[in-house]
Amino acid sequence: MTASSEPMFDPMFDVEGRVCLIAGACGGLGRAIVRGLAERRANLALFDINRKGLETLAAEIPNAVALPGDITNESSLRDAVAQTVAHFGHLDHAVNAAGVLPIAPTETLDEATFRHCIDTNITGAYLFTKAMAGAMTEHGGRVVHIASVSSFVANPNYAAYASSKAGLSQMVRVMAREWASRNVLVNAIGPALTLTPLTEDYLSDPDFLKNAVASIPMGRLGEPEDLVGAVLLLLGPGGAFITGQTIYVDGGRTLV
Ligand SMILES: NC(=O)c1ccc[n+]([C@@H]2O[C@H](COP(=O)([O-])OP(=O)(O)OC[C@H]3O[C@@H](n4cnc5c(N)ncnc54)[C@H](O)[C@@H]3O)[C@@H](O)[C@H]2O)c1
Repeated sequence: MTASSEPMFDPMFDVEGRVCLIAGACGGLGRAIVRGLAERRANLALFDINRKGLETLAAEIPNAVALPGDITNESSLRDAVAQTVAHFGHLDHAVNAAGVLPIAPTETLDEATFRHCIDTNITGAYLFTKAMAGAMTEHGGRVVHIASVSSFVANPNYAAYASSKAGLSQMVRVMAREWASRNVLVNAIGPALTLTPLTEDYLSDPDFLKNAVASIPMGRLGEPEDLVGAVLLLLGPGGAFITGQTIYVDGGRTLV
């Protein structure tokens, strides 16, 4: 024990004073990541299409700036980077937790829904990485995407979502190779099903919930806070030689 009441953080996971832009900041997983980084005194640029939610969140978080925007729009992302640099001086890290989840049998999954999923989860992730890494190539940096166990597992009724997340994990591998020599590290985290606004309608069906829990060897859904350790590893000094990986934080879901 120390005399101070301040929590002690391991230097391997240190993000204090680092400037991090987080997309999907208002979501269930985004908020947990924002809180985990804010507790460790990172400077945060909060990006989300939900303008109102963003302003409320930014008011609660110290050292945060709210940047409403759309991840599928390149100029929106470029503006967010410019505003982050104008506000904090530079950009060290970026986490993308924006996404959508349509679940439907392929016969009834309509084209517009499929395209919207690919547009948000893949095209958005491509535009995000391009805009963020572009601002990092001078001094190095880290980009982390929230992928999914669906990057790996072929769940029925997930044609759009699983395609988008498998594509994202492979895109991360390609981009990691492109930027490795400039010390811009690109990784993903693959969570298991977690109760958030994204999944609450599906999980309110008792059969869906029962099957979801049964598919996870550790016997429970994910909690948003389960992801914070992996995010800190990938952003902190401990992650300095990790690139192109999807780290599954899934209670063993991808083992079956
Ligand atoms: N919750 C889960 O079970 C789970 C599991 C695995 C992976 N994921 C992935 O994690 C990410 C976050 O999921 P979540 O559960 O927090 O979802 P969520 O719906 O709670 O949050 C998603 C956030 O993204 C924002 N967003 C959506 N479209 C956007 C756009 N075009 N531009 C900017 N922001 C946009 C939303 O406003 C929302 O705040 C998603 O990519 C999701 O696929 C979630």
